[in-house]
Amino acid sequence: MTHGTLLPPASDATTRRTGAAGLAAALAAASDGWLDLVEYRTASRWTHLLPAADAAAVLDASLHAELADAQVWLLSWLPDQGTPLHDHGTSAGAFAVVHGTLAERVVAGRDGVRETAADLTPGRVRHFGPHYVHQVTNTGLAPAVSVHVYTPGLSWMNTYAIEDGALRRTGTERAGVDW
Ligand SMILES: [Fe+2]
Repeated sequence: MTHGTLLPPASDATTRRTGAAGLAAALAAASDGWLDLVEYRTASRWTHLLPAADAAAVLDASLHAELADAQVWLLSWLPDQGTPLHDHGTSAGAFAVVHGTLAERVVAGRDGVRETAADLTPGRVRHFGPHYVHQVTNTGLAPAVSVHVYTPGLSWMNTYAIEDGALRRTGTERAGVDW
């Protein structure tokens, strides 16, 4: 056994970061602490930026430091509500389904795209790196609720369409302007 010369201090198990997926799972597990905030909108899905202090209030203290670098959004989705194909700018992140079923369509590859799809049920967590392109839709019969964590916070999202088998950017939505 070596004595840590090959391991940077950050790999110490007591300081290792949980990451966006861990935060999303922890927030989903603590949903009793925030579900009262959730609203439903008929015009489009409902989104709510959860202040870091409110997120901290429902999470174990060991996770509080990581919230400083993260942004937490609560979303609700009535049946058939969903997103266009989009990325998350340079943010990575994760989301967890708390109620209902969300269908996720993932498109990889700028040219010669490959698509995968999955139905995400309560307890499922998806995590993703920058430039991940997906579309999320409530294809179920019941309202859905999900919690999303972005690191760093979401600044912009590009929207896409698939044309001639390739992703084409159709627009950019900016935080503070478009949502
Ligand atoms: Fe997304």
